[in-house]
Amino acid sequence: MASPAGVVDARFAALHAALARGGVGLQITGHMFVEGRGRYDPVQGGIHSDETVGPLQQATEAVHRAGGRIFCQLGHSGSQSVIPDEQPLSPSDVANVMHGRSVKAATVGEIERTLACYHDAAGRAARAGFDGIHIHGANGYLISQFRSPVTNMRDDEWGGDAVRRERFPIEVIRAVRAAIPSNMPITMKVGLRDITDHPQALTREQSIAGIRRLITTGLDGVEVSSNLMSDYVSGSIRSYVAVNRKRAYADLLYHRLLYSHGNEEAYFLADARELRAHTDLPIILVGGMRRADTMAGIVESGVADFISMARPFIRQPDLARRLLSGQQAIADCVSCNICLNYDGKDWLRCWRTPRARLLEHAFRRVAGVFKQ
Ligand SMILES: Cc1cc2nc3c(=O)[nH]c(=O)nc-3n(C[C@H](O)[C@H](O)[C@H](O)COP(=O)(O)O)c2cc1C
Ligand code: SF4
Repeated sequence: MASPAGVVDARFAALHAALARGGVGLQITGHMFVEGRGRYDPVQGGIHSDETVGPLQQATEAVHRAGGRIFCQLGHSGSQSVIPDEQPLSPSDVANVMHGRSVKAATVGEIERTLACYHDAAGRAARAGFDGIHIHGANGYLISQFRSPVTNMRDDEWGGDAVRRERFPIEVIRAVRAAIPSNMPITMKVGLRDITDHPQALTREQSIAGIRRLITTGLDGVEVSSNLMSDYVSGSIRSYVAVNRKRAYADLLYHRLLYSHGNEEAYFLADARELRAHTDLPIILVGGMRRADTMAGIVESGVADFISMARPFIRQPDLARRLLSGQQAIADCVSCNICLNYDGKDWLRCWRTPRARLLEHAFRRVAGVFKQ
């Protein structure tokens, strides 16, 4: 939904307006890259230059007209970038745990320049009319790389022990805060643990001490997810959530008929519960939220204050209204992850509806558009 220069197009405003009309109270954009070398894939939108502001403003205005609110997610992919022509940066010259890309360790000057890019991007987001900033500090991207002992091997003021590994996200929060009005909220998606079998993987206990420092630096809310991940499907974007045999049959997932139960719903709930014991700050829970009663139970329990969904809204932009009105008890999305496989290669859509798209997908697979 963006030009080769990273400027979002009219589909971006239309998508977010549809979600607002569909009853989503607060939306968070996909991660917008804060500088060119932080871009993840070639179709991603950015907020790295002043020319991005106008089209983003059209989106915020469309959301506000529809009665919604929208935060801008600021991102930097670090060594997780899949663009071969970019020169990404990373805390250390360590192979990316997901796809093995190694990039040069950032100099102190490059780190400071990147912080300036976060600052400038946040200022643009405020000018574009966003209601808040959501910093992407999870899922293996640059902030996760600074926070993990697996990928941060530095021994200077940006790494070397648990406190110095948290310095980069702390400085990002400070840079963002300095660029926006004092009443504009800042939230952050954080990884509570590395989901890899690396012996040095960041643990929940190590991570929570760091997140507490991030919170006191000036966050207004935290979204719970994973830090480094070996791959998206075993990490933050798990498959076949809550898909029992009946749903598998109804949605043509015949290979799932072998399984009597679907995969776990609310798969970061234990992490959120652990974090809740350490903070009263609003917690946003994402990851496999599918049934209305599961979501209501989590909010009533006090573990999370906000329920966040991604894939279910790709399939049903009006899902929030349907769940809230009782018209539907469970999201239609079956977490097949076909949309994820096309991420960066085609525009965002559900490939199971209308049904003809499944056929198109099958042709493309045969033609080798992607390897699953
Ligand atoms: C196609 C696709 C793109 C995604 N892009 C982003 C992103 O830009 N920023 C982000 O924080 N999470 C992103 N995610 C992850 C989701 O925000 C969410 O954490 C994950 O899909 C689990 O939630 P769900 O079960 O509701 O889909 C993406 C997921 C998918 C499927
Ligand atoms: S393709 Fe459709 S059903 Fe499959 S995960 Fe994406 S939104 Fe859900």
